Amino acid sequence: MKTKVLMVCLGNICRSPLAEGILQSKVDPDSVFVDSAGTAGYHVGNPPDKRSIAVAHKYGLNIGHQKCRKFSEQDFSEFDHIYVMDRSNFSDVASLAKNQEEASKVKLLLSEVELGIREVPDPYYGGHDGFENVYQMIDRACEAIAKKLN
Ligand code: 4NP
Repeated sequence: MKTKVLMVCLGNICRSPLAEGILQSKVDPDSVFVDSAGTAGYHVGNPPDKRSIAVAHKYGLNIGHQKCRKFSEQDFSEFDHIYVMDRSNFSDVASLAKNQEEASKVKLLLSEVELGIREVPDPYYGGHDGFENVYQMIDRACEAIAKKLN
């Protein structure tokens, strides 16, 4: 059985699509399945933000095929680990958990690394620098997660 990991942010167009693509590139696809979702439904069905696609491309990853979807309560039974980008995502997701077992699947992505910050900042309203910065921190966290999973 594959280990299933879900990456969650607000819009599912900037941060979590990067986290999905980055983690998937670091694990054995036969043993680990990675997906992403957003707590909000503003962009359902859309591809990732062009700036996320561009920074992923810069590092050799193609995330352009991804399609935005909204987080659902069913994801708690489907996934083993649910990584959220910030505290707001954490409370939105954790509030949907039916019991302690489900709630215990939810973790801040950056809790996997010692970067001196706890949240991946939302780059949506910033420039390209924000996306590079976010890419680097997600990459570090995914490296640590991949080491545990591989
Ligand atoms: P994300 O960024 O949560 O990293 O995908 C955002 C994308 C879109 C919006 C907010 C954050 N929005 O308000 O549309």
